[in-house]
Amino acid sequence: MGAFPPSTSPPARLVVLVSGSGTNLQALLDAAEDPAYGAAVVAVGADRPGITGLERAERAGVPTFVRRVQDFADRVEWDRSLTGAVAEHRPDLVVSAGFMKIVGKEFLARFGGRVVNTHPALLPSFPGAHGVRDALAYGAKVTGCTVHFVDDGVDTGPIIAQHVVDIHEDDTEEALHERIKTVEREALVHVVGRLAREGYRIEGRRVLVP
Ligand code: GRF
Repeated sequence: MGAFPPSTSPPARLVVLVSGSGTNLQALLDAAEDPAYGAAVVAVGADRPGITGLERAERAGVPTFVRRVQDFADRVEWDRSLTGAVAEHRPDLVVSAGFMKIVGKEFLARFGGRVVNTHPALLPSFPGAHGVRDALAYGAKVTGCTVHFVDDGVDTGPIIAQHVVDIHEDDTEEALHERIKTVEREALVHVVGRLAREGYRIEGRRVLVP
């Protein structure tokens, strides 16, 4: 499905896609301040304007772009435009960090095997937009986060890293999500840095980092 050589001339170029508060993006921006991290955020894209994620990028001096689905005739046109906007920044890796849209065929044809997503549950349990709520409603005792490559399914791509978070008896969705996000940010920063510095291969469902 994909491979990425260890960067010979770091830093690796990251385009980060966001839809909301962008705390995962912020964690990447902060990590990338250290040249030893091996990756730099070269652009931030969003599916909606006016979000904190975009403000974080602007504060960091990183270029941004917005592609709203409703501004296009259909999802195919939206996907084409998003693909073009991301491609302009020549990413080595694309990071979907709380990006609440499913990318399409053209996007994956161009960037497949290079798109990393973070999901707030232990996949393959509780995929989709409400992973935290669904784990809580199911009565699970543990949940967590999954960092994985994106394929053409919903949260189905090869898994890179997972971390477990306990569910408390009196948890609310908000409280649980905040605890997951603390772990998730650290996991995402760690994974992206490793992939960028060391390279990787994807063989079937296995992600091999040398
Ligand atoms: C994360 O928990 C992500 O997994 C989920 O939405 C949250 C995004 O948080 N899809 P933030 O925008 O990075 O703060």
